[in-house]
Amino acid sequence: MAAKLIILVWGFYFFVDPFLCQSQELYFNGFQHSSNNISLNGAAEIQSSGILRLTNETFRILGHAFYPSPIRLKNSTTGKSLSFSTNFAFAIVPEFWKLGGHGFAFAMAPSKELPGALPSQYLGLLNASDNGNFTDHVIAVEFDTVRDFELDDINDNHVGIDLNSLISNASVPAGYFTDGNSTLHNLSLKSGRTILAWIDYDSVNNELNVTLSPSSTKPRKSTLSFNVDLSPYLDEFMYVGFSASTGLLASSHYLMGWSFKVGGEALSLDLSSLPSLPVPKKTNLSILGLSMAAIFVLIFAVSISAYAIWQWKNRNVIEPWELDIGPRRFPYGDLTKATKGFRDKDLLGFGGSGRVYKGFLPKSDTPVAIKRISNESKQGLREFMSEIESIGRLHHRNLVQLLGWCRRQNDLLLVYDFMPNGSLDKYLFDEPKKMILSWAQRFNIIKGVASGLLYLHEEWEQTVIHRDIKAANVLLDADFNGRLGDFGLAKLLKHGSNPSTTRVVGTMGYLAPELTKTGKPTTSADVFAFGALLLEVACGRRPIEPKAMPEDLILVDLVWDRWREGAILDVMDRKLMGEYDEMAAVAVLKLGLMCSADDPLARPTMRQVVRYLQGEMDLPEMLIPPGGYNVKKGGSGGEAGGEFKDDVHSYQSSHFEKASTGSTIADIEAGLSSSIYIR
Ligand SMILES: *[C@@H]1O[C@H](CO)[C@@H](O)[C@H](O)[C@H]1NC(C)=O
Ligand SMILES: *[C@@H]1O[C@H](CO)[C@@H](O)[C@H](O)[C@H]1NC(C)=O
Ligand SMILES: *[C@@H]1O[C@H](CO)[C@@H](O)[C@H](O)[C@H]1NC(C)=O
Ligand SMILES: *[C@@H]1O[C@H](CO)[C@@H](O)[C@H](O)[C@H]1NC(C)=O
Ligand SMILES: *[C@@H]1O[C@H](CO)[C@@H](O)[C@H](O)[C@H]1NC(C)=O
Ligand SMILES: *[C@@H]1O[C@H](CO)[C@@H](O)[C@H](O)[C@H]1NC(C)=O
Ligand SMILES: *[C@@H]1O[C@H](CO)[C@@H](O)[C@H](O)[C@H]1NC(C)=O
Ligand SMILES: *[C@@H]1O[C@H](CO)[C@@H](O)[C@H](O)[C@H]1NC(C)=O
Ligand SMILES: *[C@@H]1O[C@H](CO)[C@@H](O)[C@H](O)[C@H]1NC(C)=O
Repeated sequence: MAAKLIILVWGFYFFVDPFLCQSQELYFNGFQHSSNNISLNGAAEIQSSGILRLTNETFRILGHAFYPSPIRLKNSTTGKSLSFSTNFAFAIVPEFWKLGGHGFAFAMAPSKELPGALPSQYLGLLNASDNGNFTDHVIAVEFDTVRDFELDDINDNHVGIDLNSLISNASVPAGYFTDGNSTLHNLSLKSGRTILAWIDYDSVNNELNVTLSPSSTKPRKSTLSFNVDLSPYLDEFMYVGFSASTGLLASSHYLMGWSFKVGGEALSLDLSSLPSLPVPKKTNLSILGLSMAAIFVLIFAVSISAYAIWQWKNRNVIEPWELDIGPRRFPYGDLTKATKGFRDKDLLGFGGSGRVYKGFLPKSDTPVAIKRISNESKQGLREFMSEIESIGRLHHRNLVQLLGWCRRQNDLLLVYDFMPNGSLDKYLFDEPKKMILSWAQRFNIIKGVASGLLYLHEEWEQTVIHRDIKAANVLLDADFNGRLGDFGLAKLLKHGSNPSTTRVVGTMGYLAPELTKTGKPTTSADVFAFGALLLEVACGRRPIEPKAMPEDLILVDLVWDRWREGAILDVMDRKLMGEYDEMAAVAVLKLGLMCSADDPLARPTMRQVVRYLQGEMDLPEMLIPPGGYNVKKGGSGGEAGGEFKDDVHSYQSSHFEKASTGSTIADIEAGLSSSIYIR
């Protein structure tokens, strides 16, 4: 102590260490008569009792109390922050019992006024635009009594370490430890009782500790311990002090004493010698008033929640007719209830776009299929949501009806009509666990899907491009009618986060070749995929069959080969055991080949497809095989549009013979490799 010069002025001590200039110590045992040594700002004031009040109970105000001169907190030579230690006694007295806000913070800042800072959740430290900016150089330990979701607060009674941001880098519920007991004892910050807090920073171990206690003895175990090197956050000289704010709820924030030291442990405060909070005068009366008020609030709250529950219950009743008028927003709870919490047991299937669960809507007991899509892309989700309204208005007996939706964060839940017979691919490709679809059933499914797709393309108020036509997206209702599902989803998935999935633009084997060049979805690309579907329904195998012989890998090429050989019916599904209408089968295969044309202009429209299938129009006798125009031009694509057109005409004037005889093995191989390239 001999080395130190001690100045004692009315309970305010200022230690100056003459040998180590960076070491500074502040000690306020009460703040009476120290107005020159505390710089106040906002609503802050020093009361006659010696208590510093940062805010009163007015809402949306702030108060600052800082030591007037900046303190050296960093060694300018090494750029390393210095150790410091502080402790203070505070009390937060809420406006209403247990209801108050927003809290206060011990802060180190580049200025003592903090211009531009906002009250409420910003605690008088920062504002919405500079929150989180590294240039702020605001370091704070917050004692927060309101939970702000935008700032990721953990609860409404916590301690947090804030580095340039009110989104705390570390926070814990307010509490304290007693020595020899490892359980955290809860401590309500806004109880109105005096609480002691210690903040210790060790610049060697880069450790920042916050310790709380309702009594004068410092617990050995700290409430919050955070490993951080404050050097990049601190300026060489910083103002040190406190900041508090109120919002719609208000508290008075009081400080009874403060001790601070750089490079050592701060002197402790003695609770018994600190000024105490004035006891509220009209105690009995106010307690009576409060309890009366509490009873009224309680009655009010109970009736409000009873009403809310009643409303909510009512909302949950889904009348069957409601399902007919368009898509509706389902409460998330209804959908969890419908699926009994998305049990794996109720999983109907899953794919790139999400999992599908079976469920029963509460009350009405309508069976539904609920598709759960997790999408990282907010933009895709927003666009899709804006379209749900219109997509939900699509009504056709060959489309799976969208009944409604629900969004929860990045989870999108789509509720569809339940299709009891599942998806078409299960019947076509899987080993015959399920029944084998007869030719009549297959032809009926094809006609249904075609008319559903025609509706999407031409008959609705807008053109809807499906983009993901395939057997897995054709669902079968109770009477084995084909219904298209998942329309409109492709657009959502396009924005998805995983660019490697082919589902983002379609599925392998169903992708029109021009899609890989232009990437622009068109109705003729849907027709191409529908062609692949026609062939797989007739042949009972996938468009690309990895298990097949190399020359039979790609279904379209295989069908073309058989066609050229004049043995087209060889490709028909063996599982049919030859039981099919030959005329219709040839028509389906031919139509499949026409739809699979490389040139989008050579493909029929869905309207034509439907007319062919209904027998209203005869299919052309001759077909132009792929690579036909390549052969004639001897080139590999890149021709001008005009000449291209000639080839389209040549298809009608039946130059099949010429093209066919002209094609070589090399051409077929080129066709094959280009198909692979497409994928
Ligand atoms: C403030 O502190 C200075 C020492 O830095 C002291 O001389 C002065 O008397 C103090 N003033 C008051 C009002 O406490
Ligand atoms: C609270 O502080 C504000 C700002 O200093 C002041 O305008 C207001 O009158 C104070 N209210 C009370 C009740 O003291
Ligand atoms: C800064 O650190 C250097 C090296 O440790 C030391 O020599 C110097 O005295 C320090 N300066 C201050 C102002 O603390
Ligand atoms: C936010 O605070 C900064 C100072 O830290 C100030 O320059 C800026 O104008 C404030 N912004 C608003 C919107 O108040
Ligand atoms: C951070 O603040 C600086 C200076 O105030 C400003 O130039 C910069 O744009 C801010 N950065 C962000 C991300 O707001
Ligand atoms: C504190 O959090 C901010 C983001 O809020 C982050 O940029 C910064 O790196 C964090 N600092 C530490 C030491 O964790
Ligand atoms: C620790 O504190 C808790 C809560 O006060 C108490 O229930 C428990 O018995 C204590 N444990 C010990 C070992 O003292
Ligand atoms: C402490 O508070 C938490 C939540 O705030 C509560 O779950 C826990 O039971 C409380 N513990 C005690 C000992 O009161
Ligand atoms: C911080 O707390 C931890 C554990 O409570 C303790 O080991 C460490 O010594 C403390 N550091 C400081 C600087 O108080």
